[in-house]
Amino acid sequence: MISTEQRCPSPISAPGNDPTWINWINRQQGGCLPATSMPDRDWWVKLWSQPETTLKIMGLQSGMSVLDLGCGYGHFTIPAAQIVKPALVVGVDIDFPILAQAQQAAQEVSNCLFLNQDILAIPQVITNQFDYITIHSTFHGLPNPVEFVRQIVSLLKPNGYFSVVNWRSIPREDTIWLDKPRGPKTELRISPQKLLSIVKAATQRLVAVQQVDLHPYHYGITFKLQN
Ligand SMILES: C[S@@+](CC[C@H](N)C(=O)[O-])C[C@H]1O[C@@H](n2cnc3c(N)ncnc32)[C@H](O)[C@@H]1O
Repeated sequence: MISTEQRCPSPISAPGNDPTWINWINRQQGGCLPATSMPDRDWWVKLWSQPETTLKIMGLQSGMSVLDLGCGYGHFTIPAAQIVKPALVVGVDIDFPILAQAQQAAQEVSNCLFLNQDILAIPQVITNQFDYITIHSTFHGLPNPVEFVRQIVSLLKPNGYFSVVNWRSIPREDTIWLDKPRGPKTELRISPQKLLSIVKAATQRLVAVQQVDLHPYHYGITFKLQN
C-alpha cells in the first residue's frame, strides 16, 4: 500500500525489512522544470541501452551512496542501486505517476528509495549526505543553476562526486533519434564550458575530474568535492 501522506524521517535510511515507499507531502516550489518531462521508453531506453556502463563511465563505484535528481522511471537509478549495493540509492522526481513506475520496477531492489519531491527543495528536506549525486538530462531546466549547485554541495560527503549528464549544445534538429528530433530546445542546451562556468560560479570546492562524450548526443562531467 502506498501512502501519500507519510512524513519522511530525516535522515532517511535504507528500507531494509521495511518496504514502505517514502513519499511525504512534498514542498514543491516551481513544479516540473522546463523541457524535462520524462521521455517515452520506446526511444529513451534505446538511446541509453547500457545504463550500467554509462554510470561506471561517469565514475560510479561499488559502495557509494547515490542521490539521483530527476530520476524518472528509474532507468539509471535501479542500475545504480545494483552497482553500489548494499549502499543506499535515493531517486527523486516530481512526477508521481512516473515515480510509481520506478517504484514498481525496483520492487526487488532492497537498497533503493524513491521520493516524490521537487529537486529544488531537496536540500531543505533531507539531511543525508551522499557519495555520489547525479542529475541526468535535467540540469538544463534549472531556473537558477548556480544556486542549485551551491545547495547541492551540502548534500555531498567529503570527497563526494557530482555528476551531470546533458544534451549536447547543438541544434535540436540535429539530434535525430529514431527519426525525430529529440531533447530540449536548442536555446536551453548547456555547453560543457557553460556547465563548468556555472559550477565554478557556485563554488570553488567542486573540481571537474572527468569529462566524457556520451555517444551520440550527450556529454557528462563529473566533479569532485574538495575539502
Ligand atoms: C528528461 S527526464 C530524465 C530522467 C532520468 N534522469 C533519466 O535520465 O532517465 C527529467 C525528469 O526530471 C523530472 N523533473 C522535472 N522537474 C523536476 C523537479 N522540479 N523536481 C523533481 N523532478 C523533476 C521529470 O519529471 C523527469 O522525470
